[in-house]
Amino acid sequence: MQPTIIVLPSPEALAVAAAGEILNHARRAISDHGRFVIALTGGSTPEKTYKEIVSLGLKQKADWVRWFVFMGDDRHVPLEDSRSNFGMAMRTLLHHVPIPANQLFPIPTEIQPVQRSASEYDRTLRQFFGTAPPVFDLILLGLGDDGHTASLFPHAPALSCTADLVTSSPPGVLPPPVDRVTFTFPLLNAARAVLFLVGGANKARTMARVLDPAAQVNEVPAAGIRPAHGTLCFMLDSAAADALPPTLPIKRVNPQ
Ligand code: 6PG
Repeated sequence: MQPTIIVLPSPEALAVAAAGEILNHARRAISDHGRFVIALTGGSTPEKTYKEIVSLGLKQKADWVRWFVFMGDDRHVPLEDSRSNFGMAMRTLLHHVPIPANQLFPIPTEIQPVQRSASEYDRTLRQFFGTAPPVFDLILLGLGDDGHTASLFPHAPALSCTADLVTSSPPGVLPPPVDRVTFTFPLLNAARAVLFLVGGANKARTMARVLDPAAQVNEVPAAGIRPAHGTLCFMLDSAAADALPPTLPIKRVNPQ
């Protein structure tokens, strides 16, 4: 299935539009099967969106008690550490909306060593989904300048991990230089929907590489995100879309 590419005029407009898109996914999932299972991501672009989800979600009276929140990847640091993705999600979103605490599933980064932390989260996911396939209603992803997504870095062993839902990864070339825990491609590509949130001129060249049909996943891991039965959408600001070929079907949205 071809990805949908939506371009907003500014980082602020991207954050608001992405928040609306995520809340729409939640409404559809809850109406369809009574719950919304989402995996968040780290990064400054998603962070802006989480803040918008709070205001928009409270205004729309989102059905928070049916939300189940996981983390698609995290740094192997304590939740209180400023580098923690789940810590950021708590500060910007989860502490501000009434999702029941037992429906929040951070990666257990207190478990050492990092592979055991990954195995424990893998077990949590299998327990949560039971006999059903581990299918998320929505997985959010960011894009690193180096082409990584989640914590799937170029040339990393995690790229070829197919037996597990979650694995560990040594630091990539981008900071912070800490071990990571990340969803693997099989879990990411099983999702009903994957939504990339990408902003900034520093992502423009990488975005073009991701959408290049000749992209090599080992070089540009984000190009390996191709949901088998789900939808794939890239929501970009105009700076991040600046190097995309004009031949791509891009939907430019100018919110009033
Ligand atoms: C991480 C993130 C990572 C992030 C991208 C985009 O742990 O580093 O999960 O994959 O989403 O690096 O980050 P920005 O939006 O800050 O550019």
